Amino acid sequence: MKIQGKTAIVTGSAGGIGRATAVLLAMRGAADVSLVDINEAGLAETAQRVEAAGGRASVHKLDLSDISATDAWFRIHGDVDILHNNAGVVSGLPQFPDVDATRLQWIIDTNLTSLVAATQIAIQAMRQRGGGVVVNTVSTVALGTGFYDAMYATTKAAVMMFTRCCAPLKEDCNVRVVGMLPGLVDTPILDTTGAGGKSEWMKMVLANNEACTPDDIAGGVMALIEDDGLAGGDWLAVRRLDGKVEYQWGHADTL
Ligand SMILES: NC(=O)c1ccc[n+]([C@@H]2O[C@H](COP(=O)([O-])OP(=O)(O)OC[C@H]3O[C@@H](n4cnc5c(N)ncnc54)[C@H](O)[C@@H]3O)[C@@H](O)[C@H]2O)c1
Repeated sequence: MKIQGKTAIVTGSAGGIGRATAVLLAMRGAADVSLVDINEAGLAETAQRVEAAGGRASVHKLDLSDISATDAWFRIHGDVDILHNNAGVVSGLPQFPDVDATRLQWIIDTNLTSLVAATQIAIQAMRQRGGGVVVNTVSTVALGTGFYDAMYATTKAAVMMFTRCCAPLKEDCNVRVVGMLPGLVDTPILDTTGAGGKSEWMKMVLANNEACTPDDIAGGVMALIEDDGLAGGDWLAVRRLDGKVEYQWGHADTL
């Protein structure tokens, strides 16, 4: 899809990957970018950057762990050409199996349930307007065999499967649902893995892996949006190796 003149929603856009994506959408000529997050100060900063990049931004404080609020918001604002479901959280402490049921529900609702609810409403609108693109931020952990944060990896694996299962929507109603799989990116989410900062396991991951920048990931999101040759259900993993950005493409039927 050509981004010029299109409308977009980016969730989790108060910083990190979501902010970089929103700004890059504006640079590519998106007509209007709706910024969604719980962090109002971060949203205001992103809006300024989107406008400095030549775009029009609107800010929306929304707690995506609240499914009825998410549903209500998307029913009013969800009629757009591009939806980037990007907000996400890690478990923090305590982790499974010591976490309580409320906290378990919180990570599932923030990372998965709200994403499905938002996608469902947006797709209904895109079907009416003749097409659209939904990009779900997954993670390379969805390609692996395990991760230090079991609930995070489980929700991301579910988002990956959901994305792949949406592949037929391309043929049914010209809506492409695709997955962005960032490798390690040095963003504020890493500081929520431990008690008041990075966990010991996250420090180890950072010491042993090269981190991407949010702009590396935003560039991959643009590639996913712009390539109408993709069949739907496709995914793109982005990592950094020896200072270079590496892309790994996969498709709905890629194991
Ligand atoms: N940073 C990494 O290494 C990495 C790797 C793979 C995938 N990801 C994924 O990328 C996405 C963006 O993360 P990031 O790295 O930019 O971190 P980030 O913390 O900068 O961004 C996450 C955003 O989501 C928002 N958010 C959290 N809970 C919310 C809620 N209930 N309602 C609304 N907004 C909420 C946060 O306020 C924040 O602005 C996440 O889905 C994350 O899981 C990150």
